[in-house]
Amino acid sequence: MATAEKGYDIADIALADEGQRRIEWEDRHMPVLQSIRERFEKEKPLDGVTLGCCLHVTTETANLARTLAAGGANVALCASNPLSTQDDVAAALVDRYGAEVYAINAEDNDSYYRHIHAIVDKGPQITMDDGADVVGVLHGERSDKLSGVLGGTEATTTGVIRLKALERQGKLGYPIIAVNDAKTKHFFDNRYGTGQSTLDGVIRATNVLIAGLRVVVIGYGWCGRGVAMRAKGHGAHVIVCEVDPLRALEALMDGFEVMPAVEAARVGDVFISVTGDRDAIAGEMFNVMKSGAIVCNSGHFDVEVNKDDLDAITVEKFETRPLVEGHRTKDGREIFLLADGRLVNLAAAEGHPAAVMDMSFANQALAAEHVVHDHGYLDKKVYPVPEEIDKEIARLKLASRGVEIDTLSDKQQEYLASWDQGT
Ligand SMILES: NC(=O)c1ccc[n+]([C@@H]2O[C@H](COP(=O)([O-])OP(=O)(O)OC[C@H]3O[C@@H](n4cnc5c(N)ncnc54)[C@H](O)[C@@H]3O)[C@@H](O)[C@H]2O)c1
Repeated sequence: MATAEKGYDIADIALADEGQRRIEWEDRHMPVLQSIRERFEKEKPLDGVTLGCCLHVTTETANLARTLAAGGANVALCASNPLSTQDDVAAALVDRYGAEVYAINAEDNDSYYRHIHAIVDKGPQITMDDGADVVGVLHGERSDKLSGVLGGTEATTTGVIRLKALERQGKLGYPIIAVNDAKTKHFFDNRYGTGQSTLDGVIRATNVLIAGLRVVVIGYGWCGRGVAMRAKGHGAHVIVCEVDPLRALEALMDGFEVMPAVEAARVGDVFISVTGDRDAIAGEMFNVMKSGAIVCNSGHFDVEVNKDDLDAITVEKFETRPLVEGHRTKDGREIFLLADGRLVNLAAAEGHPAAVMDMSFANQALAAEHVVHDHGYLDKKVYPVPEEIDKEIARLKLASRGVEIDTLSDKQQEYLASWDQGT
């Protein structure tokens, strides 16, 4: 294993060939990012800027790192989840694309935070987070590096929630662009990306036939809608649990059964939480689950499944397949926890497909350019991605699929801007 002093800490540099092949394959499905990379190559909008990135170390992230480097940035990358690092990708990034990477698949908590500190040591001028862990460290024990940061970006719902909490308390140290809130991000990544890859994770981990099973989706936000839609597509009988009456009503009218989580626990076969909240699967639910129930989480942190509650009724844990931990309960049932309650789509499958990360990472790249260009005008607040960027990404994505759309005529524009033209 290489050491941190050499500018990286990864599992095995010899995996670089395989990593490069897979990165290049995914690049073929990221045309928007490719076009940004070509422009960055010429214009160098990030020239000399040190970027501290804490993202899932996957093939798609590698193509983002290449794009940022093409723009002239020095890229230092650590993992945003201990189980999501693809070691061959980390190797290729170091060996073929000149990035500094600090990430090893299945690293323990100490290494995870040591690697975040390695990124902070670089003195990042821009932070790029997925879950606000770098922001957390910079606003806590490493506040010595806070003043050097021009701005940052945040990829996910949970991270944006944490940043808004910091902003409300008047403690946010620099402006951050909420990439998650761009329409070209959460409409597609959270819904179609999480939808497909979560089902993929459950299937790869367990090899169960989804058709005919009762799949319980807890949380009917952007991710939950996608997971429920794809589970239904596989032939599951989908049950949704929500706390927000509007979203519960939406789930009902989308054709799903809606009920409280404890009731769903009695009948469900597979449980998937996507709430961004703690204890979505907890307590009494474990007491009433059927033997054979499969439990997993696709929300950002591993707090959604309360593992202590499950452990409290467990008399024996046993390994069945990789990432499938069996729990034998005091009353003789078997409950199976996937990926230790961490993001099942990244731990047991490959995360979102490149075609959807194309738009999420186009937002990241353009938001970084926006911060470098406009940080002087930004306050210490959480900002949305500018609407022009969102629309440009949608336009580029449609163009890459060869899809053309209509434009408004002058008369239509005039009509839509008027108040006096009625019946
Ligand atoms: N797996 C991935 O790759 C991936 C991708 C994108 C986002 N995420 C994460 O998934 C989580 C959800 O993201 P989102 O964009 O769908 O958020 P969202 O805010 O759109 O939806 C969350 C939903 O969960 C509901 N909820 C909250 N607590 C609940 C509880 N205890 N029981 C039932 N419902 C509850 C909320 O009412 C809301 O409707 C976040 O943690 C986000 O960071 C994961």
